[in-house]
Amino acid sequence: MSSPSRSGAFDSAVDKRVERFTESISFDQRLFRHDITGSIAHAKMLTDQGILTPQECDEIETGLNEILHELESGTFVIREELEDIHMNIEQALIDRIGDTGRKLHTGRSRNDQVSTDLRLWVRESIDRVDDLLKGLQIAFVNRCHGDFDVVVPAYTHLQRAQPVLLPHVWLAYCEKFQRDRERLADCRKRVNLCSLGTAALAGTTLPIDRANTAKRLNFDGLVANSIDSSSDRDFVMESLFCLTTISVHLSTWAEEWILWATSEFDFIELPHAFCTGSSIMPQKINPDVLELTRGKTARVIGSLQTLLVLSKGLPLAYNRDLQEDKPPLFDAFDTVTACLELAAPLVEGAKMKRDCINSRLERGFLDATTLMEYLIKRGIPQRKAHHMIGELVRLATEKSVTLAELPLEDFQAADPTLDDSVYGVLGVKNAVEAFESVGSTGPRFVSEQISMWKNRLNLSS
Ligand code: ARG
Repeated sequence: MSSPSRSGAFDSAVDKRVERFTESISFDQRLFRHDITGSIAHAKMLTDQGILTPQECDEIETGLNEILHELESGTFVIREELEDIHMNIEQALIDRIGDTGRKLHTGRSRNDQVSTDLRLWVRESIDRVDDLLKGLQIAFVNRCHGDFDVVVPAYTHLQRAQPVLLPHVWLAYCEKFQRDRERLADCRKRVNLCSLGTAALAGTTLPIDRANTAKRLNFDGLVANSIDSSSDRDFVMESLFCLTTISVHLSTWAEEWILWATSEFDFIELPHAFCTGSSIMPQKINPDVLELTRGKTARVIGSLQTLLVLSKGLPLAYNRDLQEDKPPLFDAFDTVTACLELAAPLVEGAKMKRDCINSRLERGFLDATTLMEYLIKRGIPQRKAHHMIGELVRLATEKSVTLAELPLEDFQAADPTLDDSVYGVLGVKNAVEAFESVGSTGPRFVSEQISMWKNRLNLSS
């Protein structure tokens, strides 16, 4: 039998090449659960409205559940000539229960059906990504206690800048992922609106009850305007934007750890189960998971780009171009999910190379800014202090010593009022202790932040 969407208006069957070109079943079949859930809710609403009889509704529900079972067990025979998952399921229902099945599509169109299925899918996928992000935050927070004694150089311009407590670095990632989670939650509000019943683009003359369907599908409300509903894919764009910020954050982390795992940095040992080897160089233990996490970010960014370009030239309401939204949407969610699934165990399994970090920690004058601020506290204007410390750094470099190793005479030559207390802020550990501002790496603030995060993530302290 030809496709249910080919009415009596056609004078010929579709060209096979067109069938192949226009199908979406190859990628939209993963919406089958959402499609069936949506159809059952729709049938129940039609029944509540007296459009279907309760018996017809039962037949439809039973038929759809059998089809669901076949789809889940892989016994369902997919037919490309039926274009998409929506018509495959509808036709299978009609094949089973005949005319009652032909009533299911009453008061709806595939346009609102596709949009509803997609909204259900995106909602579920957002929740999954949010769970994984939370798991990654937990992995970082769980490291904080054990890594509290580790001080690492922090960099700007990839040059050693100031010393920080390692947990301060871990919590920096938690903040980024928290904003990602907030963005997802906000996006979810606009995703979680029901478009079913907006039909093709103008609504329907049949006495449906959209609020009934929305409630059955746990939507928070209705898409208000039927024309908007039929053409709207900004819920897809927005969810893709949320995924791009997650990906970019993951990429930052990946890049940082790739650097840290080099012999040049030597800060971290990645769990070997998460590394790969080289086919020719036997000594290599490569951070491929991190590299691919960084690399796959390009795909996610590309998906957002695809949706934006796809939509920019379309006039209002449904256009077939919109079918092309699904491959990039699915790919982006799959990619981010796959990266996140590996990120948390990687964070859990990594070991800090404390000795290597400590043996080079005094390099790079990480305490210079703390020393400058010590002078400021003694009344020296910032610009003067800045210049003075620059000169002391030059002197120490010439002598191949650290600032803490300079004799008091050198400090007094710069400023005669200086005394022994200067050594109290020198050396990296002292420098870290001296941080005073809220949000800084000072141990008191970092401890407070760890407690705050444990609370926020419901972890026992
Ligand atoms: N396969 C199409 C899609 O995924 C179904 C929508 C068809 N609507 C239409 N008016 N032809 O977008």
